[in-house]
Amino acid sequence: MSQNTFPKGFLWGGATAANQIEGGFDLGGKGLSSADMIPYIPKEERTGDHTSDLTSQQIEEALNGTSTRHFPKRGGIDFYHHYKEDIALFAEMGFKAFRMSISWPRIFPKGDEQQPNEEGLAFYDNVFDELRKYGIEPVVSLSHYEMPIHLIEEYGGWTNRKLVGFFEHYAKTVFARYKDKVTYWMTFNEINCITLSPYNGGGIVSDRYDHVDQASYQGLHHQFVASALAVKAGHEINPQSKIGCMLALMESYAETCNPDDVLKTLKEEQLNMFFTDVQVRGYYPSYIQRFFDEQNIKIDMEPGDTDILKNHTVDYLSFSYYMTFVTSASPHGEKAPGNLFAGIKNPYLESSEWGWQIDPVGLRIALNKLYDRYQVPLFIVENGLGAIDKVPEDGLIEDDYRIDYLRKHIEQMKEAIKDGVDLMGYTAWGPIDLISVSTSEMQKRYGFIYVDQDNEGNGTLARSKKKSFHWYQKVIETNGEVL
Ligand code: BG6
Repeated sequence: MSQNTFPKGFLWGGATAANQIEGGFDLGGKGLSSADMIPYIPKEERTGDHTSDLTSQQIEEALNGTSTRHFPKRGGIDFYHHYKEDIALFAEMGFKAFRMSISWPRIFPKGDEQQPNEEGLAFYDNVFDELRKYGIEPVVSLSHYEMPIHLIEEYGGWTNRKLVGFFEHYAKTVFARYKDKVTYWMTFNEINCITLSPYNGGGIVSDRYDHVDQASYQGLHHQFVASALAVKAGHEINPQSKIGCMLALMESYAETCNPDDVLKTLKEEQLNMFFTDVQVRGYYPSYIQRFFDEQNIKIDMEPGDTDILKNHTVDYLSFSYYMTFVTSASPHGEKAPGNLFAGIKNPYLESSEWGWQIDPVGLRIALNKLYDRYQVPLFIVENGLGAIDKVPEDGLIEDDYRIDYLRKHIEQMKEAIKDGVDLMGYTAWGPIDLISVSTSEMQKRYGFIYVDQDNEGNGTLARSKKKSFHWYQKVIETNGEVL
């Protein structure tokens, strides 16, 4: 008989990243990170949709203190000092899981040291203990858009093979330290991001390379190997641990039934599935060689790499899902942006205030396709609506738009489960308002919990519950029955 509803033990919760919440960028012995260099640039002054891919000049100004900009990821929402209060609120909502990341430079301030920073390790001990106190399962990303800046300035980020060893050492250190506190891990957040936003994903500063795609795909190969070595180490240290990969899912529809549009869409899908093909199946898929030849990309592999990839595949596949795209063989018309990528506007879909196209049914399609392809447990570790919340006099934010978005997506998850998909959990993005990755804004809010802070970092940082807080609490309490 098919499964009719969410399975027992389904991991309901919320997802965050250290650089978007923690703050305390220079506290507790932490080193500077790539994210600490990213300024907030008001919309009128921005040149593109995203502000997180930095130039050499921006990094220099951030490092030598000559930039007059505000750097929101240095302060986050000060989870560093508020974690007890925030986790108590997550517990009140009934969270079963909390996705977070470890800030690599909090553990290894420069990234190439042998000895970890004890104060940094102790901070995460405290966070995990606090989660455990409420029975909340930590789901921990080792790398979420953040690395020690020293590894970028000294080694060229992930283009350098040495990063594999540094990352493996970091992974082994935290796996060993937290083996009794953390079961669910993931290696690289949105690993495909390195090819779309090289600084964010791989510490690759575009203006330092003549052929950025070559640098990015080489960096990606190093991440694939580092990820597989982390899976190996994690399983050796704690055989019970579950270690996943993480993809920014980019479902796209052919604009018409013209075979040229359909073929283009298939090719784009392959370029999105390439990452999980390697991490779940354990080898480079045959279709990628033609792409590499056409783009003049040559991957330098060391002997033994193919065995490492083959022997240490992931336990589950996790992904983020926010929107879908439309693909045409001859691009035209109005563009629809996304977190990393833009496509053609879909006339059947509504969009968020940031132009991201809202597509709950697309989530069911994606879940079916992923499960058909891989047959491993799936985990939705990001999904949500970034919106401007208006704070009324009485203080209660009536965020029905957010509830509506989430409800429709959860309904489709339920349908996918009925279709036979093995779905292990759902962590909504930004359960508490946090700093946006793409624009470093604060006003793009995803939370069930409001944080009093503006784009320039002004505010009391006070936390308050929105209407969606009570709604999500009910969803979890009823294991997805009351939506
Ligand atoms: C994902 C990232 O791409 O999208 C998150 O993994 C990010 O870190 C999320 O915050 C939403 O994007 P944004 O730009 O609205 O913060």
